[in-house]
Amino acid sequence: MIRVLMAASEVAPYAKSGGLADVLGALPAALGRCGPVEPAVLLPCYRGISLEGAERVYHALPVWVGGFHYDCALWRTGGDSPVYLLDCPPLFDRPGLYGENGADYPDNHARFAVFSRAVLEVARRVFRPDVIHCHDWQTGLVPAYLRGRWGMDPTFLGIKTVLTIHNLGYQGVFPASVLPQTGLDSVQYHPDGAEYWGQVSYLKAGIVYSDAITTVSHSYAEEIQTPEYGLGLDGVLRNRRDALTGILNGVDYGTWDPRHDPSIAAPYSAGDLAGKAACKRDLLRSFGLGAEAEKRPLLGVVTRLTPQKGSELILEIAGQLAAEGATLVVLGSGDPDLERDFQKAARASAGALAVRIGYDDGLAHRIEAGSDMFLMPSRYEPCGLSQIYSLRYGTVPVVRVTGGLGDTIDEETGFRFSEYSAAALLACVREALQAYRDRESWTARMKRGMAKDFSWDRSAAGYVRLYESLVRSR
Ligand code: ADP
Ligand code: GLC
Repeated sequence: MIRVLMAASEVAPYAKSGGLADVLGALPAALGRCGPVEPAVLLPCYRGISLEGAERVYHALPVWVGGFHYDCALWRTGGDSPVYLLDCPPLFDRPGLYGENGADYPDNHARFAVFSRAVLEVARRVFRPDVIHCHDWQTGLVPAYLRGRWGMDPTFLGIKTVLTIHNLGYQGVFPASVLPQTGLDSVQYHPDGAEYWGQVSYLKAGIVYSDAITTVSHSYAEEIQTPEYGLGLDGVLRNRRDALTGILNGVDYGTWDPRHDPSIAAPYSAGDLAGKAACKRDLLRSFGLGAEAEKRPLLGVVTRLTPQKGSELILEIAGQLAAEGATLVVLGSGDPDLERDFQKAARASAGALAVRIGYDDGLAHRIEAGSDMFLMPSRYEPCGLSQIYSLRYGTVPVVRVTGGLGDTIDEETGFRFSEYSAAALLACVREALQAYRDRESWTARMKRGMAKDFSWDRSAAGYVRLYESLVRSR
């Protein structure tokens, strides 16, 4: 058995802002199913996570960082693969995961240094792993600790580390003045270590010091080694190219399948699509759109509102959709300026564009089910899960060919464009709207998408092979 301790800042259904949570919610169980792996997950215990039914497994787990001492409680919940919740109210009992009202919490460096240090204490006292699998910058310090201050601690000898990059756009870069509060060994603060142009970079620390690095699609693994997509870390990633691989995300069809989705108005399948029309009616109604929109093609968007997602391109074409005879519904939250711009656009194009600002899991499912097409014109996209969900819901994706979008959507199942511009997006949407008129071939396209299988087992097998090779190399 290979014991794998995953550490991440989001795990569905406990805490979620995007696809990272979906991955951590499904991958551990898939690992347990498909290989000799015993997984466990560690997550901060944020406000709102219910501890009902959870077992307190450690009353005062001592975590020392930068001369400060935090007493954390540790709770265990979850089914076959345990989820450990790190309970440290001064750091995590707050309204947001990372910040509020569009601003990061000023002590995020300390919050996630403590979380990363706690990973070692859990490994020492509660769940002794063969591999620690870290996700994104929030856990990037763990590999650095194991190569630095704790490198000679016999407790940790032989433990291998994997860092999965879900999004290079978030690097956890903080001023050098916080260095004493990070728990990093000062000898690791140099350009070939955790230093990034005079600042501390948690993601760079993870990239430099982990034994293996993965990212969430094959194309993104290549792209991040180029200046265009490397966001300043392409050189660091090229230096570690031998340790870097792409493993495409899977999706959890237990949660995302119109045959048994409790959030949608009516179940349906490729064999019986009748329920999809009911889902469209229900969706239009919940956005206050009239029955006249039922006959028109309905485009859906569910997204974090950030420059990554091509939100500005959607805004640019929104005004023209009425003339094309289409309706667009958008669910999103994030950047306050983009939130305002979308609300403004909805007022300007009432009847053709309806916008809901906020985070609403049920509505996300209803948009996947009730729309005819799903727009994802991302500037970059490490993997993207929403477009894969769309396939299963018979909602034809319109995507920009970048990262995982290009790896998951082909001409047979969706519509693709390359140039990052509103004109290219509009041309692609027009092509899709034209194709929509031919109902027979459109339905055939929907069914090809619905038949695609991106279940986790294949992706999990990729991680199992990686863990096995790391453990063999000890
Ligand atoms: P990313 O992780 O970059 O946000 P993904 O496509 O991988 O993109 O995953 C997005 C996940 O987050 C999907 O499960 C999607 O339904 C969900 N999501 C994004 N924005 C919202 C929102 N405003 N409300 C509800 N769910 C959302
Ligand atoms: C990130 C990426 C997204 C990916 C998700 C899960 O948030 O933006 O493309 O699907 O992580 O790996």
